Amino acid sequence: MLDDAPVRVAGLNHYYGRGALRKQILFGIDTEIRRGEIVIATGPSGSGKTTLLTLIGALRSAQEGSVRVLGQELNGASSRVLESVRRNIGFIFQQHNLIASLSALENVELGLRVTRRYRGAALRQTARSMLEAVGLGERMGYRAESLSGGQRQRVAIARALAAEPEMVLADEPTASLDSASGREVVDRMQQLARDRGTTILMVTHDNRVLDVADRIIHLEDGHLSGFTDSVLANNRHMMGLLADSHRKEDLPALVDGLDEESFRDLLQQLDQESRRVLEATTLANDLVFRSLLEQGLFAATRKLAQLFDAERASLFLVEPTRHTILLRVSENLPETPIRIPIGTGIAGAVAATGQPVRVDDAYADPRFNPEVDRLLDYRTRSLLCLPIRSRSGEVFAVAQLLNRRGGRPFAAADEHRLGEFIDSLGVVLESLHDPLREAEDVLT
Ligand SMILES: Nc1ncnc2c1ncn2[C@@H]1O[C@H](COP(=O)(O)OP(=O)(O)OP(=O)(O)O)[C@@H](O)[C@H]1O
Ligand SMILES: [Mg+2]
Repeated sequence: MLDDAPVRVAGLNHYYGRGALRKQILFGIDTEIRRGEIVIATGPSGSGKTTLLTLIGALRSAQEGSVRVLGQELNGASSRVLESVRRNIGFIFQQHNLIASLSALENVELGLRVTRRYRGAALRQTARSMLEAVGLGERMGYRAESLSGGQRQRVAIARALAAEPEMVLADEPTASLDSASGREVVDRMQQLARDRGTTILMVTHDNRVLDVADRIIHLEDGHLSGFTDSVLANNRHMMGLLADSHRKEDLPALVDGLDEESFRDLLQQLDQESRRVLEATTLANDLVFRSLLEQGLFAATRKLAQLFDAERASLFLVEPTRHTILLRVSENLPETPIRIPIGTGIAGAVAATGQPVRVDDAYADPRFNPEVDRLLDYRTRSLLCLPIRSRSGEVFAVAQLLNRRGGRPFAAADEHRLGEFIDSLGVVLESLHDPLREAEDVLT
């Protein structure tokens, strides 16, 4: 079947050990990888990533459930079928399976020869350029046994990629590489996926390469984790595939459906992701993370409104160099930025004083600035407005709940409860904030 996904896993359980020692490692795994898709699997040590990879790679027999790979059902398959599936897969595993007595170049050539695509000088040239790409140009003539672990890993990568297999299964391929060669390796994988429709499943803990993924799946104690999976699934590429994707869950809808406790968990996760962004400058420009956080921020803001029985929630960002606040998150946000001077309007007053404000009837309050209502075609009645402080303590943003449903005003208890949520939101907001961009805005 032409349009059959190269990997379809359904209801997969896996156990190690026998009798009383039998222990379940994978639980009801369902996933599908499409042709040319790059999927990254993450998860703590021992969560079952390598096990899943070896099952998909036909290196281990499936015990329960279905594992269809490259059109073949592997559960119950004969060794001949397993072998034929394996032949179309390039493996980059922690144990590299190089031939110790052959040189790096010979090991890669051997991998290439199997494909029968190259011979003679072309074969040697392809092998060389692949070794150069993984930073082993100087070591091609060394025997595998005299290379370091990291160097052997690179030879294994060169060998797997040079053969241009239909699918690549890689377990921590960049773990022993410095960041430049790690980058080169994943870029090459991405190129392969693009040019030849190679399907790639890669386990990695390396945050610097996550952006090559079309989709990130997360294993936790042998379960594919639902939430992280769906949140992380919302990356750049998936957005592009939105129209034809049946698997992508709509993040705002997902968040809307959470109860308060799950929502707190979600905020905490976002908060943690954000701290990672703040701490690792390499991640600050990572589009996957930024887009994840951006959507998380929007969804969480909407969720706040729902939790507080408010019609709307919005977030303003303080722009100190401009002396304005910028409406950052809101329903119906127009393309032209909405800015109001610090000190005017209620959010502006909160930004200036750092004090929360509760108002029962906005239009009766002299501080209220109806301009934002006008721009958003909205009518504010009741309002609860709180400062969000940055990690260094200054008022950095303002959170606002609008129009308590049922005609009741917001209460002091709401103020307290909102305060508990917005610290996390503040961290997310802060990590998305780019002071340089703001400075440029002022100049232009
Ligand atoms: N051959 C085996 N026999 C028995 N138990 C095993 C075997 N291989 C793995 N396990 C156990 O299965 C669980 C999952 O192991 P697995 O290697 O799949 O984890 P992982 O997610 O790849 O971890 P890491 O990130 O450390 O590589 C672990 O608890 C491990 O101890
Ligand atoms: Mg592993």
